[in-house]
Amino acid sequence: SDDELHARIRTAKEKLGSDLVILGHFYQRDEVVQYADFVGDSFQLANAALTRPEASTIVFCGVHFMAETADILARPEQHVILPNLAAGCSMADMADEDSVEAAWEDLMELYADETGPDGLDADGLASVIPVTYMNSSAALKAFCGRNGGIVCTSSNASTVLEWAFARGRRVLFFPDQHLGRNTAKAMGVPLEQMPMWNPRKPLGGNTPAQLQDAQVILWHGFCSVHKRFTVAQIEQARVEHPGVKIIVHPECPMPVVDAADASGSTDAIRTFVAAAQPGDVIGIGTEVNLVNRLAAQNPDKTIFCLDPVVCPCSTMYRIHPGYLAWTLDGLVEGEIRNEIVVPDEVAVHAKVALERMLAALP
Ligand code: 13P
Ligand code: SF4
Repeated sequence: SDDELHARIRTAKEKLGSDLVILGHFYQRDEVVQYADFVGDSFQLANAALTRPEASTIVFCGVHFMAETADILARPEQHVILPNLAAGCSMADMADEDSVEAAWEDLMELYADETGPDGLDADGLASVIPVTYMNSSAALKAFCGRNGGIVCTSSNASTVLEWAFARGRRVLFFPDQHLGRNTAKAMGVPLEQMPMWNPRKPLGGNTPAQLQDAQVILWHGFCSVHKRFTVAQIEQARVEHPGVKIIVHPECPMPVVDAADASGSTDAIRTFVAAAQPGDVIGIGTEVNLVNRLAAQNPDKTIFCLDPVVCPCSTMYRIHPGYLAWTLDGLVEGEIRNEIVVPDEVAVHAKVALERMLAALP
């Protein structure tokens, strides 16, 4: 029964004490989030992995790329567990290492005349800097580490793009086209200078001239949850709730971000709600578990999800309390179940790209 399941989790947590730390992403269901020692956005959780070096095990209630990141940043002796190994991220899966390597080779060939033997032009700039969104495999973070690139999250993408433009003439941004486009547009990059790269087409479906002129080359990935939000939903919310404030995640398509009053990471959305006045009405464009939790935590405000059809992240949802109980039972018995181990040869380069991100932040 549910009661037994939750009793098992509580007992295991008590037995394991400070030897265990449970991290929970904002999108996790409440039955899971209630056991998390830290709840946050993907950037905060990456940092949280660093703050409890005394815990021998980190149980990550999130998705695969988040657990990989924790494993890369944690002490070598620490174990990272993903309660259900099937909890991936469909966007992260849209950029595989081979396709990105192939795109990189094409671009290097195209831009070969721009730079000298040191890989830099007369202004000391590389022809292109790879930037990967945190929502990507460890292999792609390692690719960025090896090729002068960096990682960003939705909470620091513009700072990271500034870092990249200080070092290169262009950026190759993957996997999320929307975060890349929304961020670069807000920095003043014209849309004509943001071609998309489709790995199934020669030169990604672009002409050499388009790629020469490019400032940000966008991978064709997207989030299936955030692409559901539309301008029509925002317009309807404004008709139904005059004065409504709209905030959306920057994984939403550009017209949606443009029609909203604000956009930001999951933690920025939480902060926006916290800063609103009692009686305010707020429409949110992000995953429904977070929206419902914010609504419950702020009964003095009216908070609703812009998508009338419930839109959970189906892979985050795979972390059922049953899996949490099963992995914690294992730890009590001395057995590590569903461990995420990033091979050392990948982790060493991925860490370089992650540390560049941490160092770039104010
Ligand atoms: P945050 O970095 O805002 O937590 O977003 C992660 C994510 O997967 C959003 O879909
Ligand atoms: Fe991936 Fe989208 Fe789920 Fe975030 S909400 S974990 S981007 S599928």
